[in-house]
Amino acid sequence: MSAIAEPSPIVITDLEEAKEVYRQKSMRQGLYDAGEVVMSGVLVNLHGDEHRSRRRLENRLFRRETLAYYEDELFPAVIEDTLAPHVAAGRAELVALGHQLMMNLAALNAGVDRPLGTPEETFRLYQQMMKLIEGATLTHSTRDHAVVSAEVRSALEAFDAEFVTPSLNRRTRLLESLARGAIGEDALPRDVLTVLLRNEDHLNLPRDVVVREIGFFLLAGAHTSATAFTRSTHNILRWLDQHPQDRVMVSDRAWVQRCVHETVRLNPSSPTGVRWALEDVVLKSGRTIRAGTQVVIDLVTVNRDPLIFGPDSEEFNPYRLVTVEGVGPYGLSFGHGMHACIGQELAAGVPADGDAQQHLYGLATMAVKALLERGVGPDPDDSPVLDASTKRPYWSRYPVVFAR
Ligand code: HEM
Repeated sequence: MSAIAEPSPIVITDLEEAKEVYRQKSMRQGLYDAGEVVMSGVLVNLHGDEHRSRRRLENRLFRRETLAYYEDELFPAVIEDTLAPHVAAGRAELVALGHQLMMNLAALNAGVDRPLGTPEETFRLYQQMMKLIEGATLTHSTRDHAVVSAEVRSALEAFDAEFVTPSLNRRTRLLESLARGAIGEDALPRDVLTVLLRNEDHLNLPRDVVVREIGFFLLAGAHTSATAFTRSTHNILRWLDQHPQDRVMVSDRAWVQRCVHETVRLNPSSPTGVRWALEDVVLKSGRTIRAGTQVVIDLVTVNRDPLIFGPDSEEFNPYRLVTVEGVGPYGLSFGHGMHACIGQELAAGVPADGDAQQHLYGLATMAVKALLERGVGPDPDDSPVLDASTKRPYWSRYPVVFAR
């Protein structure tokens, strides 16, 4: 049978089948086909050996001790500084605040310096990053794709000139000092750009790929966590309205983390995973997928399977217990298999395993908890608005006030 006769796309709604698809070596990434302008040659778009080598190199930055260093030493001050002016003003708009905050955190992880350190410079980085996000999620955009691609191309050039080039030069100088023995390992920043520049696996990436890779880590880290931040806050505020006895829980990190995981399950950052079959594949169920077929993993349906997540699987419930082996409380929202999210533990920590010393809560949990502790609540005079410029379910504005 020819590939043309196959129905395409095939939509997967079963969790085990979705995992099987994610693990297929003969299926390549398909989610970012429309976003090539920013996504060409970046980790999530690579396949086979090329993906394995880059992932192995970059994985070094996501070891537990580095994540604990971010969580305990680097991030608390950034969260405090980013929130302070909004708390002082008594109000904020959560969508923009979430992106600013997560950008500040993701910039440390990606290795994007801000040489001037001025608010104007941060605002330019923010605008460039938001444009890169529009490029990466182009497939869901309701705007003219050619117009968006042109805007993204110029944002990428500005990002390179203003941020990547100076960040790269500073790290090159530091690596030269390290080679001369003038500084020790501890003086090196712990970020993706430094890992790429050290290039211990001799990947020799072209310069334009390095720029897009850093842009991708910045946007992947910031955008996904920022949407989880706004949605988690929304879900928690609604929950507390209906369950006032739980107000005491807002200072319990493990409870807030469960709320974040539950939110990410209900609203995966991308509602679908997409793959292209490179050759014929027969799944365990007997389903045959022909070469050339597009496979869409419907994460929203997968993550709400009542047999796995319970009869109230459509609802937000921080006390949900998921007992099916091999399924996390966030369902498949961080993907699975070779492209499984490299930043999962950075964003969402690890589910509680009883050992508080070993526990990681993740930057989304830390940021949401910081908001709750400052008495965040919906703005009674300004209702939240959904974003009409994308088919994804995003808030475009979410005004809040602070009680303290
Ligand atoms: C709530 C937060 C997040 C969610 C829901 C999320 C979700 C995902 C998903 C579903 C994938 C797999 C894509 C696929 O297989 O097609 C992925 C991959 C990836 N994520 Fe995340 N992510 C989050 C946070 C982060 C953070 C903080 C970073 C920053 C380091 C990050 C960096 C990446 C990278 C680099 C990949 C590509 C991995 C590869 O292809 O090997 N993510 N993410």
